[in-house]
Amino acid sequence: MRDATPEQDQTIYLADYAPVPVTVTHVDLQVRLDPLATRVSSRLTCIRQGPGDMVLNGELLKLRAVRLDGEELSPDAYSLTDTTLTILNAPDSFLLETEVEIAPQTNKALSGLYMSNGMYCTQCEAEGFRRITYMLDRPDVMATYDVQIDADLPVMLSNGDETGHGHWRDPWPKPTYLFALVAGDLIATHDSFTTMDGRDVALNVWVRPGDEGRTAYALDSLKRSMAWDEKVYGRVYDLSVFNIVAVDDFNMGAMENKGLNIFNSKYVLASPETATDADFANIERIVAHEYFHNWTGNRITCRDWFQLCLKEGLTVFRDQQFSQDARGFATQRIGDVLNLRARQFREDAGPLAHPVRPESFVEINNFYTATIYEKGAELIGMLRTLVGAEGYAAGCALYFERHDGQACTIEDWLACFEAATGRDLTQFKLWYTQAGTPVVKVTEHFNDGTYRIDLEQVIPDTPGQANKKPMPIPLAFGLLAQDGSEVVGTQIHELTSETDHLSFDLDAKPVLSILRGFSAPVILDFVQPDAERLTLLAHDTDPFNRWEAGRALAKDRLMRAVTDDADFDAPWLDAMTTLATDTDADPAFRALALALPSEDDLAQSLHNADVVPDPDRIYAVRRAAQLAMAEHLRDDLSDLRESNATPGSYDPKAEDAGKRALSATLLRLQTMLDGGKAARAAYDVANNMTDRMAAFACLLDAGDETVAHSFEQDWQDDRLVMDKWFMAQVAHAAPRDAVGVADRLTRHRDFDASNPNRFRSLIAGLTGGNPAGFHNPDGTGYEFLASWLLHLDKSNPQTSARLSTAFDGWTRYDADRQAMMKAQLERILGTTGLSRDLSEMVIRMLKA
Ligand code: PHE
Ligand code: ZN
Repeated sequence: MRDATPEQDQTIYLADYAPVPVTVTHVDLQVRLDPLATRVSSRLTCIRQGPGDMVLNGELLKLRAVRLDGEELSPDAYSLTDTTLTILNAPDSFLLETEVEIAPQTNKALSGLYMSNGMYCTQCEAEGFRRITYMLDRPDVMATYDVQIDADLPVMLSNGDETGHGHWRDPWPKPTYLFALVAGDLIATHDSFTTMDGRDVALNVWVRPGDEGRTAYALDSLKRSMAWDEKVYGRVYDLSVFNIVAVDDFNMGAMENKGLNIFNSKYVLASPETATDADFANIERIVAHEYFHNWTGNRITCRDWFQLCLKEGLTVFRDQQFSQDARGFATQRIGDVLNLRARQFREDAGPLAHPVRPESFVEINNFYTATIYEKGAELIGMLRTLVGAEGYAAGCALYFERHDGQACTIEDWLACFEAATGRDLTQFKLWYTQAGTPVVKVTEHFNDGTYRIDLEQVIPDTPGQANKKPMPIPLAFGLLAQDGSEVVGTQIHELTSETDHLSFDLDAKPVLSILRGFSAPVILDFVQPDAERLTLLAHDTDPFNRWEAGRALAKDRLMRAVTDDADFDAPWLDAMTTLATDTDADPAFRALALALPSEDDLAQSLHNADVVPDPDRIYAVRRAAQLAMAEHLRDDLSDLRESNATPGSYDPKAEDAGKRALSATLLRLQTMLDGGKAARAAYDVANNMTDRMAAFACLLDAGDETVAHSFEQDWQDDRLVMDKWFMAQVAHAAPRDAVGVADRLTRHRDFDASNPNRFRSLIAGLTGGNPAGFHNPDGTGYEFLASWLLHLDKSNPQTSARLSTAFDGWTRYDADRQAMMKAQLERILGTTGLSRDLSEMVIRMLKA
């Protein structure tokens, strides 16, 4: 809870980093489990490295004993506060023993040791270990572990290899944040993997009894990830067992604890009946992500939390590469860019903008952001583009060789690429320290056989940062003739100064295809004639830019419909029809190309164009565009859906998922015309959750009054499916009804705010899923959100703070809405007992 000290006193600065005076090299833990009185006995092997007292972290611990080299410490040899245990005048090397008592049953923050449906589990990243026992709870202290779990429970797991019943030894030195312990009544699905050096690894996915039929896809994803990391990065697994545990109450997606990954059950459990294609894709991606952390995060970890992107950006980049290989480059890249723009560009454009490597924070949990993860991954991708695939491989190889077993910094990482490639990365490092999405302004001139492109980069000011330096921006581009044939194949131009230009001798003005593959996380300011965009949409050899051209055309039309009431013109609708009916193109690509920019994307774009976005108008215009598309495609819709059917039993493979995605897009259009008839038919015959959810959403859009009830009857016993039920009803309510629907659902017997998945389904269903509903002009959406954030903050500040980001766009809107949002932010801030997490977020947002 927030104490009396002002905010600035709690700020932690990168510049203040100092190594510990006394370190810990081995941890010996005995954990006697009990819901209300768990006893943790710890023996730490301590070694002095420099002058100073040893300050151990501890929170919510009842200290029962403290001994140094076997002797009870006298009260004047240590000091104790709510958050620290300081050992005064510690010798050069010693054994420090403590005994503490904790109450996992009452831990609703889901950090440290807690209970979820009768099972014990831990979450230690970033600073949860200090809620288990006194320790140097920071990533640059790496120790080996011996763990003895005592309890009368069938399954007891920790990191490393099991050396006796409930006894685990992890030989790999690791920081506290990678510690894990799980115990309870669990069932495993087993498999095995033989490493490329011939060792057998036992693989287990542990779930609650009853869920064991839903683990196959996670196990399969794990094996494919292990093989991929050997093949592509030469990384081999290093223990004889790899355990994954599914937990229902979990704040995040999953956690890479050494040898014992713990997952939100949403990202493990899947069956065709209960999980959608998106769920399957997420499971594959997240299993890979956590597995890849074994090398990028665990074997080589972060020196301090400012370096979080060192493990997260790199590991996201690796999981994106893996998914591209598994699912197809273009569609994966488009999906990743959509996600980057929706979450990271939004963050970068608002009051929460921060560098990929921040320089200060109050609560580290508030920095597990799209900027650290997704922009962090883009930086790795740019680095790879700049040094080339071979240079990248050489830099990575050196990194693994040079830093194995260490806690590192971004400087260490970049130094490996400088050493391996000879390239100076001084300017590139600005990408890590300067926040804000660069805008690249492109203008073209054609004159007398010379085609010239002028380039300019502008990096906007962000909180605490102004007057930024130009950064190296790799621009992949190509040139097409007006008839669509390629005249210059993909090249990389490095824009390193504020302005620059390129010229070519050509007979006619070409069509520029710039930022191919989205080669840099920037916003292009480039007005291109419709005719050229249509050429790119039809002919570009770069599939990302084909999609991007379609997106630009659609966005233009939606923006002009908002600002000038413009109609949706026939050439655009014809192009959309061509796309929809182009049987040569991949259905997944067609689905992505037919999807319109989101309401939030339009709101941000309008704001950038100095237009105050009106959420109701944006909602109406998007619906009108869908109706226009539907009318234009009217005669083809049924046949098109027919030809993209996936008959037979469900297969999660990308090819089928693409067809289902296209079919869902078309069903939405059909629903605009028939009021839900086709959707009802689709709902009734659906044999998998992807098709069922698609039809369910359409029926809700069409105002069907019975489907929610029948869905509930069918699925009320399935918690993961019911999360979808809660979310869809809020997201697909008419904007004026959305807050009412959400409010009613909070009184449903299955609404449980203490379960993060359920809470998020309902809250994000409103704030992200139904923007016009959230921004209801009467302000009830804002009040609803603030009230629930305050409610959750008492027990689970991390999740409350995370969901508070829905307010981060508040200064985009009209004066009335701004005043109402500001009032809610101030109401939150004025509440006594507010967590450090939520107060930091609200303070930052109010500074906008
Ligand atoms: N480190 C986890 C991941 O990215 C995310 C996480 C952070 C989980 C903090 C729990 C707590 O894979
Ligand atoms: Zn991660």
